[in-house]
Amino acid sequence: MPSVVVIGSQWGDEGKGKIVDYLAQKADVVVRYSGGSNAGHTVVVDDVAYKLRLLPSGILYHGKTCFLGNGVVINPGVVLKEIHDIKEKGVDISRILISDRAHVVLPYHARLDELQEAALGTNKIGTTKGGIGPCYMDKVARTGIRMCDLIDPEIFAEKLKVQLDAKNAIITKIYGGEPFDYDQMLKEFTDFADQLRPYVTDTGAALDEVFASGKAVLFEGAQATFLDIDHGTYPYVTSSNPTAGNATTGSGVGPRDIDHVVGVVKAYTTRVGEGPFVTELLDTDGPGNYMRETGHEYGTVTGRARRCGWLDAVMVRTAARLNSLDYLAITRLDILDKMPKIKMCVAYKYEGQEIKHIPASLKVLAQVEPVYEEFDGWMTDITGIRSYDELPLNARKYLERLSEIVGVELGIVSVGAGRQQTMVLKELL
Ligand code: GDP
Ligand code: IMO
Ligand code: MG
Repeated sequence: MPSVVVIGSQWGDEGKGKIVDYLAQKADVVVRYSGGSNAGHTVVVDDVAYKLRLLPSGILYHGKTCFLGNGVVINPGVVLKEIHDIKEKGVDISRILISDRAHVVLPYHARLDELQEAALGTNKIGTTKGGIGPCYMDKVARTGIRMCDLIDPEIFAEKLKVQLDAKNAIITKIYGGEPFDYDQMLKEFTDFADQLRPYVTDTGAALDEVFASGKAVLFEGAQATFLDIDHGTYPYVTSSNPTAGNATTGSGVGPRDIDHVVGVVKAYTTRVGEGPFVTELLDTDGPGNYMRETGHEYGTVTGRARRCGWLDAVMVRTAARLNSLDYLAITRLDILDKMPKIKMCVAYKYEGQEIKHIPASLKVLAQVEPVYEEFDGWMTDITGIRSYDELPLNARKYLERLSEIVGVELGIVSVGAGRQQTMVLKELL
């Protein structure tokens, strides 16, 4: 049976949750492999919106197993609340498995995230302040606490002591902040550990059995290609690798276990937080503001207004290269329904010359000029259309031009948040 990785091709919030939920109909297992509660994936089923941060978007079906792989950073309070809330809505939560190698986000990570952002002042990254960066810093520094440590009372008590002493020193001496109390944190997290223990396992080994039994597996990306710590607009990125390669490292399978990679592309571009944005629209009553208000472009996790701009095909083409995309899943095409003219950035110019790749230097990127093609809008409500051929000609022209520039086939086109508002051009599972 095939395995499919679903990734974000822009700066996040492309609608990965919706596409994963849709594809999960035919999958047996859904795996999150990177990021943490900085993700906010909204899935709408029968007009009910489920806002998922750590749980994979396959959770809303009966009988699918949902994995949180070793590459994910787990905030125990957040995941337990998510499990509790979703259980209240009648969802079966008996099939969640959490990697024993996943790192734990502790309160000092969130505190450090806030203090580091405040210290950066106008250079701040605009993080979600959930402690994601500081947790991955501990992972790389080899000072992190993993799920296998959390659920072992003796080890956890020891490791927490060492870490809390070190972090309290940084918080008080460098930032002049308030220290955390060891006994209180130990008690709170011992309670979390008792609740999480039944879910914790060697998910890499469990996935091996899944593959051996021929089941269909979906890997759900969080964040996106241009928030990738290596390939994104560094330092305005997250602290993990959302790109498709990490679906293997972040879940404990090998590269040959991946069959297809789907890049989710919002029909325009958005970004939350700071950092460069070549096609950004800064108007207050023009197309940028129209996209934000019509598309309700406000963050699921932080409620911040998302910055909006024209679709950047140069970014998507780069995402195709970085992730080996074989299909595009276009979302939110319907948000453009009432725009008489739509632009797409088809190339970048730097110092008057066309450049083929996105420059690493933010100084150079800031001077890049977008080259636009303009399209006539379709000026029709497409939310009820269910077959690609019935889409207005102008909408198809827009999509087909994107596919041509990017060099990747269209696989899915989405015209609304609901499951049924999805057109499949290529069956993947
Ligand atoms: P994710 O982080 O990539 O999963 O995306 P988010 O959930 O943060 O943001 C995407 C939003 O768009 C969610 O509220 C989805 O329910 C919604 N959505 C997904 N696809 C479509 C679509 O085709 N049209 C419209 N109007 N909304 C969509
Ligand atoms: P989903 O999975 C959009 C952004 C933050 C900030 C930067 C670093 O819903 O697409 P972090 O808290 O990760 O250290 O913040 O990354 N960011 C996202 N933007 N969607 C997301 O996730 C994001 N996760 C992180 O806004 O700019
Ligand atoms: Mg999101």
